[in-house]
Amino acid sequence: MVIISGAAMGQGESHARLLSEAGASVVLGDIDTARGGQVAEEIRAAGGRAHFVKLDVSQAADWKNIVAEAVATYGKVTGLVNNAGITSAGSVLDCEEDVWHRVIGVNQTGVYYGMKTVAPAIIDAGGGAIVNTSSTLGYYASPAAYAYQATKGAVRTMTKSAALSLGVQGIRVNAVFPGLVDTPFIDHHRSNSALDNSISRTPLGRIAQPGEISQAVLFLLSDDASYVNGAEIVVDGGMTAGSLGSLTPAPVGAKEA
Ligand SMILES: NC(=O)c1ccc[n+]([C@@H]2O[C@H](COP(=O)([O-])OP(=O)(O)OC[C@H]3O[C@@H](n4cnc5c(N)ncnc54)[C@H](O)[C@@H]3O)[C@@H](O)[C@H]2O)c1
Repeated sequence: MVIISGAAMGQGESHARLLSEAGASVVLGDIDTARGGQVAEEIRAAGGRAHFVKLDVSQAADWKNIVAEAVATYGKVTGLVNNAGITSAGSVLDCEEDVWHRVIGVNQTGVYYGMKTVAPAIIDAGGGAIVNTSSTLGYYASPAAYAYQATKGAVRTMTKSAALSLGVQGIRVNAVFPGLVDTPFIDHHRSNSALDNSISRTPLGRIAQPGEISQAVLFLLSDDASYVNGAEIVVDGGMTAGSLGSLTPAPVGAKEA
């Protein structure tokens, strides 16, 4: 059984549907109770085992509750996908304190609470796997997403630290690093040129569909990834592989300038 945070829409919804199709029982957590409940119902209608629990990832009590409900419903927990996240605009000078604390609370503290609360249940179950969601903005900088980047960089190193401490207890901990994904998360960019600019810097020339990230999550949770721990899977169409505008080197043997 796998707990997925932020499962009411976007990537989390897609993860829940794919994991269910692969045979897992799924417990969906989200602040959006209407949509989350609807997704769980649709998964059940399609023959899957799904249960929705209200979860604000920034609240420790909510995590205790979802673990208790998950164990009561399905007996044991063997997986966690820390997917819930919120975005924030603003440079270091523009980032107001309330925005900073809210983004850290959801994207970073939420991942801490998730791992801290769910890992003991996975140990009780005899082991399993955790997948955390970072971002390509956990790798490289943008001037205008200061708080968001702080959290996604933190998730990268939190994943590696947990891979060490939980790996010895039978839990593999890995992270996915999505590039641009076609979800409500990027809706505010759809009407401006920022989205087109980012797509033009992506070698595959398009945005990802949520299911393309879900395939990486499914792999990391599965026994196919039985020796993968502390790893980073970048799913960004090649955006962070380098610069499309790089100079072409001179041919071998050409006179040095
Ligand atoms: N979409 C992208 O381009 C992109 C790129 C890189 C990384 N990501 C990351 O992927 C993850 C999923 O993003 P998405 O694209 O599906 O976003 P989304 O906005 O489509 O969905 C996010 C989900 O998280 C839920 N959520 C928000 N705050 C929550 C909270 N406090 N507790 C529980 N649930 C909460 C929302 O209700 C929603 O269902 C996020 O961590 C995001 O930072 C997204």
